[in-house]
Amino acid sequence: MNTILPETSRNCQVKDYITDHFSQEPEFISEARLRSKQSGLKEIHVPENVGKTLKLISCLIGPKKILEVGTLGGYSTLWLAEGLSEEGKIITLEYHESHAKVARENFNYAGLSNRIEVRVGLAIDLLRQLILKKEGPFDLIFLDADKETYPDYLEPLIELSRPGTVILSDNLIPKRGELGVPDPSDIEAVGIYTFNQKIAHHPRLDSLILPTIVGEKGRIDGLGISLVK
Ligand code: SAH
Ligand code: DHB
Ligand code: MG
Repeated sequence: MNTILPETSRNCQVKDYITDHFSQEPEFISEARLRSKQSGLKEIHVPENVGKTLKLISCLIGPKKILEVGTLGGYSTLWLAEGLSEEGKIITLEYHESHAKVARENFNYAGLSNRIEVRVGLAIDLLRQLILKKEGPFDLIFLDADKETYPDYLEPLIELSRPGTVILSDNLIPKRGELGVPDPSDIEAVGIYTFNQKIAHHPRLDSLILPTIVGEKGRIDGLGISLVK
């Protein structure tokens, strides 16, 4: 226990340093975080440092069309929206109507409700619908829904891509267990490591996991970055 404390607390200091100096939330984004919390949503949105990462990657791409899988209160959606090109649109997928409602209120407050559409349902069904209706390709995709299903989302997401699309995936380093060797009963970790193998070896992807520091204890997590070829 004591032996891991110094490293963990150093991680916290690094996280706070980066957050304080590089990840200030615009007012409408901190408002979304507070309103989501007040509405009783779990605080499992990306931390500010990851939000800022999403913003900068989005700004580098200048996407016309963004797809997000896993809305919650729309906190990450608003960071992604920072890079949206003029006339650009975001579609974000969420299973729970109660989450979608909070997200729509946050988008409304941000003045972005005409640019962001929340679709409610099982992500796998909504993705199939997007493919059938030929609503792709998207320029930027952010995957952040149920971890055990990540492997099933990959092919539909690639179908909704074009060469040059960037697929970002949250939480690619599970919270516990030996790295790369999940306990078979930990279905989220199994899903994530299966996904990681797929993005590492997929012939149409060039991928990396960018380490991120998250949570109060400064845990190392990872943001997947995959460029579609
Ligand atoms: N991207 C958000 C956090 C998303 S948390 C942010 O950083 O601000 C994950 C969300 O995915 C939750 O709101 C959860 O309800 C939703 N979700 C989980 N399983 C899902 C599924 N199968 N289909 C659609 N949404 C799902
Ligand atoms: C948690 C964190 C996430 O970023 C997420 O997408 C889902 C769950 C968590 O801390 O439990
Ligand atoms: Mg996440």
